[in-house]
Amino acid sequence: MKHIAILDFGSQYTHLIARRVRELEVLANIYPTDISAKDLPKDVIGIILSGGPQSVYDKNSPQLDAEIFNLGLPILGLCYGHQLMAENLGGKVEPGKTKEYGRAELVKREDAVIFKNIESPTTVWMSHGDTVIKAPPGFKPIGSTNDCDIAAMANNDKNFFGLQFHPEVRHTEQGMRMLENFVYKICQAKKNWSIESMVDDIVARIKKQVADKKVFLLVSGGVDSSVAFALLTRALGEKRVYGLYVDTGFMRLDESEEIQTNIEAAGFKNLHVLKAGEAFYKNLEGITDPEEKRKIIGQTFLDVKDKVAKKLKLDSDDWLLGQGTIYPDTIETGGTKHADTIKTHHNRVDAIQKLIAQGKVIEPIADFYKDEVRHIGHLVGLPDKMINRHPFPGPGLAIRIICRDVNQPSPSTSAQAMADKQPPASPAGRPPLKGGGALVLPIKSVGVQGDNRTYAHPLAVWGENDWEKLDKISIQVTNSSKEFNRVVLLLNLAKKAPRLKLSPDKKSLTPDRIKLLQKVDNIVHEIIKKEGLYDEIWQFPVVLAPVGDKYFESIILRPIVSQEAMTAHFYRMPHNILENMAGKILAAGKIDYVFYDITNKPPGTIEWE
Ligand code: XMP
Repeated sequence: MKHIAILDFGSQYTHLIARRVRELEVLANIYPTDISAKDLPKDVIGIILSGGPQSVYDKNSPQLDAEIFNLGLPILGLCYGHQLMAENLGGKVEPGKTKEYGRAELVKREDAVIFKNIESPTTVWMSHGDTVIKAPPGFKPIGSTNDCDIAAMANNDKNFFGLQFHPEVRHTEQGMRMLENFVYKICQAKKNWSIESMVDDIVARIKKQVADKKVFLLVSGGVDSSVAFALLTRALGEKRVYGLYVDTGFMRLDESEEIQTNIEAAGFKNLHVLKAGEAFYKNLEGITDPEEKRKIIGQTFLDVKDKVAKKLKLDSDDWLLGQGTIYPDTIETGGTKHADTIKTHHNRVDAIQKLIAQGKVIEPIADFYKDEVRHIGHLVGLPDKMINRHPFPGPGLAIRIICRDVNQPSPSTSAQAMADKQPPASPAGRPPLKGGGALVLPIKSVGVQGDNRTYAHPLAVWGENDWEKLDKISIQVTNSSKEFNRVVLLLNLAKKAPRLKLSPDKKSLTPDRIKLLQKVDNIVHEIIKKEGLYDEIWQFPVVLAPVGDKYFESIILRPIVSQEAMTAHFYRMPHNILENMAGKILAAGKIDYVFYDITNKPPGTIEWE
């Protein structure tokens, strides 16, 4: 079938490009970068070169067969692909003076078909350290941002286009129109794909893969595993699908009961429930490192499942393990050849990767994103209440409680130098905020910058309330300083200067800390439901951090807006609601400070660990 070929240089967004092309109802297939021009199928009508975490001038960076540029096909290079195109065709790429992570404003400089019907200026989403400083012969720079002169270039005669930004992410406002221009106007594609036709396709694939076996599915009660459960049950019947909900002890307040009620109300009779909090607590005792936590949690899910299977005397040769894995889980765990590991998702730990290699795992929705999964959920008749729940990660609150190992090194001296500057300090060298200041938070969180994992300090700022200005401060801080991958706003300013000290004691995943977070998380979610904000906010992690000056516990609020979790912006909550929320959290007791995360993704991830 005629399709667009995407060469995968390891971007977090490669698969998302394919998904966007499919959204335009045109088939897209992903190919490895070492495919030769002659091996590309004859029905390819255009090529997209993806982004990637490396530098094109590095010795071992992925390259492509230069003959691909002689096929006479339209080519669109994105981010690393844009740089690779420049480098291969006689241009020049260098490390940028300023990096760009997240939001930037693009101004059109020249017309080109890729920019047909694109208004200028327009918001685009960036994630790069390197920059094209000279366009190749035959190319014209067609768009710039403040920090990137050649943010877009075109060779109109050859139908070659390069974009430094990511048109495939929803946060690039007119990105979809640019891709539409490429697919329809430049590649002359015709519609040949739809999501409605996918349900029958998935059911057929399940039947083929499972053959005469059965499926043991780990159900978390979230959207993904519920949709996987519905699809498997539709394909195989209730008797051949054993659904197991494992209560890890790291769920939200009363969440297990709610999930059970929802699943039963949706008509499933093949769900079994197991309380396994003890096993999870025991295995996580004393563990503080985020990746270690994630790996232990994934392994404990498997151990629990094995124990149940043994008890039920299920023959492992007759059963496949089912999981509601979706695409971001795979890519964030470094699931393609050139991709970096941002964080290990619970359904992608080593033991599961081994089972996958042995063909013992079935994941019916592993190719899809959350919004597509919700769409499929509607198509298979799941109730809205189940489909529209906020996403909740498999590891649950365990990755929202930041721990402190007494042996962990203290913040690096340069970050500490900022911390030592008493307020009013200035965020990353900017003029001081009026009556405000900035301090480094002495903990770290995970980020994603230029397709790489980062693990760096957040900067806490205060003295500014305007969301637009705060967004700009946040972008400026993370673009200009490697020390910081996140910025948070301090909400409860006392008269005296805040003392954001790391807990002097070891802090791990204790029952007390879990109870404290459950309580605060419940306050937050009750408020957003009451105020009618639940559907506006896509996900609302509430994080507990061992920072403060009395109890050494602080809360970080992380509401975001997203479409499919690959990019996100922080939610701008009405100030009166936020004030009320912070007040109630502090009144709950044992919390020193409340922060509001004002970081987009990139550079921050949605979860902190
Ligand atoms: P990040 O934090 O990487 O998260 O921006 C993207 C989305 O994935 C969810 N998430 C997980 N979901 N198992 C899951 O089922 C996991 O291990 C996991 N880690 C992150 C996260 O909540 C967000 O919706």
